[in-house]
Amino acid sequence: MRSCPLPSGASMPVFGIGTWRMGENNRRRAQELDAVRHALDLGYPLIDTAEMYGEGVAEEIVGEALAGRSQRPFIVSKVYPHNATRRGTVAACERSLKRMGIERIDLYLLHWRGGARLSETFEAFHHLREAGKIADFGVSNFDLGDMEEASRLDKGLTASNQVLYCLSRRGPEFDLLPWMRRRSIPLMAYSPLDQGRLLGTAALKKVAAELRCTPAQLAIAWLLAQPGVVTIPKSASRERVKENLGALDVTLTPEILAELDRAFPPPKSKQSLAML
Ligand SMILES: NC(=O)c1ccc[n+]([C@@H]2O[C@H](COP(=O)([O-])OP(=O)(O)OC[C@H]3O[C@@H](n4cnc5c(N)ncnc54)[C@H](OP(=O)(O)O)[C@@H]3O)[C@@H](O)[C@H]2O)c1
Repeated sequence: MRSCPLPSGASMPVFGIGTWRMGENNRRRAQELDAVRHALDLGYPLIDTAEMYGEGVAEEIVGEALAGRSQRPFIVSKVYPHNATRRGTVAACERSLKRMGIERIDLYLLHWRGGARLSETFEAFHHLREAGKIADFGVSNFDLGDMEEASRLDKGLTASNQVLYCLSRRGPEFDLLPWMRRRSIPLMAYSPLDQGRLLGTAALKKVAAELRCTPAQLAIAWLLAQPGVVTIPKSASRERVKENLGALDVTLTPEILAELDRAFPPPKSKQSLAML
């Protein structure tokens, strides 16, 4: 599996499973756990979660899926903005570690801006890193101006910015993604399927049929073809977890990429960062 180098010298796999909406309904818990376990059995190298997802239950599911394994994937989790004070961030991280039954989070993100002062959150991130509780830190839903502000506080260590980015929402390509690329900061593309909305698009279906892959595989493969981009499709179904991994085997030629550009044009001007 390909990975992206991070400013700290560590690296992050370019593909993983998302867990938003997991842990929200006890009746779906067994199926969600089964899907995360299946992803790990198939070799998914990264799990993306957050204290917000199921108010901690998604992290518990991740912990259950990890239990008893000799190798563990790269783990990403996130702190709520309202917890992101100097002390609150440290306490939230400790709760997340406990729920997942792990000693260290590989990448710990501020979920979105708001609440605490950014300087306090970064102070806590530096402290957690020095204490070995997180390996790297970063942000989420940060537009260019926020990234510039973060870069004044991060001692060159912001490892990623997780934002909404997929074929039907290409706004970050105008300025945010180039800015991040110049600094070798990988962009984590969330909602790669636009939460399923992208999959019914006629143009996507047509190109997928030409390539003999599924629309979901094509949408994910397109993101994986973008330099410096990591993506994290979520599925709570065994079959779809396997299907989504198949995106890694889809090769996109320059002609196919051009056809996708015609159907889903890149931005010609600045667009405010969209958020789900
Ligand atoms: N930082 C942030 O603010 C933020 C915001 C949003 C998301 N995220 C992260 O990014 C992850 C992915 O984004 P997302 O969950 O919003 O959306 P997504 O991955 O684009 O789409 C997930 C939806 O698509 C369905 N799906 C998955 N694979 C499919 C396939 N092969 N065919 C048809 N349908 C399929 C899933 O249903 P089933 O589960 O039933 O398969 C689910 O309803 C999240 O889980 C979360 O970890 C972060």
